[in-house]
Amino acid sequence: MTAPLMSLTWTDHLTGRQGYLVVDRLVRGVSSGGLRMRAGCTLDEVAQLARGMTMKEALHYTPEGRYIPLGGAKGGIDCDPREPGAYELLVRYLRAVRPYVESLWTTGEDLGLSQDLVDRAASEAGLVSSIQAVYPLLDDEVTARRRLADAFAVEVDGIGLDELVGGCGVAESALTALDRAGVACAGARVAVQGLGTMGGATARFLTRAGLTVVAVADIKGTIANPAGLDVEALLAARDAHGTVDRSALRPDDRELPGDAWLSAGAQVLVPAAVSYAIDTTNQERITARWIIEAANMPVLPEAEELLSARGVTVLPDVVVNSATNAWWWWTLFGDIDAGADAAFAHTRRSMRALVEQMLARAERDGTTPRAAAHAIVADRLPVIAERFAWYR
Ligand SMILES: NC(=O)c1ccc[n+]([C@@H]2O[C@H](COP(=O)([O-])OP(=O)(O)OC[C@H]3O[C@@H](n4cnc5c(N)ncnc54)[C@H](O)[C@@H]3O)[C@@H](O)[C@H]2O)c1
Repeated sequence: MTAPLMSLTWTDHLTGRQGYLVVDRLVRGVSSGGLRMRAGCTLDEVAQLARGMTMKEALHYTPEGRYIPLGGAKGGIDCDPREPGAYELLVRYLRAVRPYVESLWTTGEDLGLSQDLVDRAASEAGLVSSIQAVYPLLDDEVTARRRLADAFAVEVDGIGLDELVGGCGVAESALTALDRAGVACAGARVAVQGLGTMGGATARFLTRAGLTVVAVADIKGTIANPAGLDVEALLAARDAHGTVDRSALRPDDRELPGDAWLSAGAQVLVPAAVSYAIDTTNQERITARWIIEAANMPVLPEAEELLSARGVTVLPDVVVNSATNAWWWWTLFGDIDAGADAAFAHTRRSMRALVEQMLARAERDGTTPRAAAHAIVADRLPVIAERFAWYR
C-alpha cells in the first residue's frame, strides 16, 4: 500500500489513550471519512479504512453528477465507547484534530459512535460542524446545509433516514447478486452480524424485499430462528449501541453463542459489525453462497481466498457499504432532495449499477468482485486527479 498523504497519532494527556487520523488523499483540498471508537483500534486499521474511503469516493464519481468525489480519510479512537469517560475522550480528540476538521477532513459516525454523539462532541469541541471543510466547495452553502439538515430530520418507521440509506445500499447489493444468479428473493435466508446502524437497516430492507432473516448477532451473542425472526421487533428493542433487549424475543427464538450466525443455514451472510470477523479458521463453517460486506474489512484476505476457491462470493465493503457516505454528498451538493423517496431511489439505482458493473468486470477479467472493484478505482483515480486538483 502506498503511503497516505498524512497520518497522525494523538495521545490523550489525561488517560494515555490513543486516537488516530489518516488522510489518504485529497481532492480539491478535502477528504471524507467517518470516526470510529473501539477498544483495540490501531493506526494500521485506520490507514486501511482511509484507503477504502478513497475508493468509495472514486466509485461514485459520475461526470454528470453535482457531487464531485472527495479524497479518503478516517479517524479512530482506541477505547470502548461504553466505558465511562468515553464521551469526554471523544471531545478531547476532536479538540486536538480541530484544525484538520476545519480545513480538510469531513467526518461522521462510524462503528461505536452515532451521528448525534459526533455532532454533540464536535460542537463542544468548538466546531461549526463535522463536515465544515466541504462548505467552501458549495455553490449555495445556506441552501445546501438546510437541505442536509432537513434530510437528517426525516424518519422512516422509527429510524432516521441517515441510519437507513447505508443499509438500503447493502440490501440492494445483495438483491443485485441474487437477481444476477437467478435466485428468488422470496424465502432466501439471511444471517446478519451486528444490528446497529448498518446491520439493522440492512435487515429491515432485506426483510421487506421478501428474504427471511434467520439469525442476528450482536455483542451479547446470536439470536436465531430458522422460521424467521421478527426483525422490526428486534430493531425496536435495541439500545443506543445496537444491543437487543432479550426480553423482546419470542418463545421460539433461540439464544446461541456469538459466532453461531456464521452457520445458521443462511444463503446470504451480512457481516455488519466488526473488522476481521471472518478468518481462515471460522470460514470453514460458512455454507452461504454470498457474503455481503456491510462492515469495513470483515473478511480477512486469506479467508477470502479460501472462500472464493469453494465458490463463495464476497461482495466487497468498498462497494457494498458506500451509500451512506455518497448520500451525504448527493444531498449536500443537490443531486437529490431531502426526502426519503429520492434517497432510497437514488441509492438503489446507483448501487445496482455499481454492483452490476463490478460483477460484470469480475466475470470478464476472471477475478474476484473485490479485484474488479479495485480495477475500476484504478481506472478512475487518474481521471479524477486530472480533472480536479489535490489542493484548492
Ligand atoms: N454507520 C455507517 O454509516 C457506516 C457506513 C459504512 C460502513 N460502516 C461499517 O459498518 C460496521 C458497523 O457500523 P455501525 O455504524 O452499524 O456500528 P454500530 O455501532 O451502530 O453497531 C454495531 C453493531 O455490532 C454489534 N457488535 C459489536 N461488536 C460485536 C461483536 N464482537 N460480535 C457481534 N456483534 C458485535 C453491536 O452490538 C451492534 O449491534 C463498521 O465496520 C463500520 O465501519 C458503517
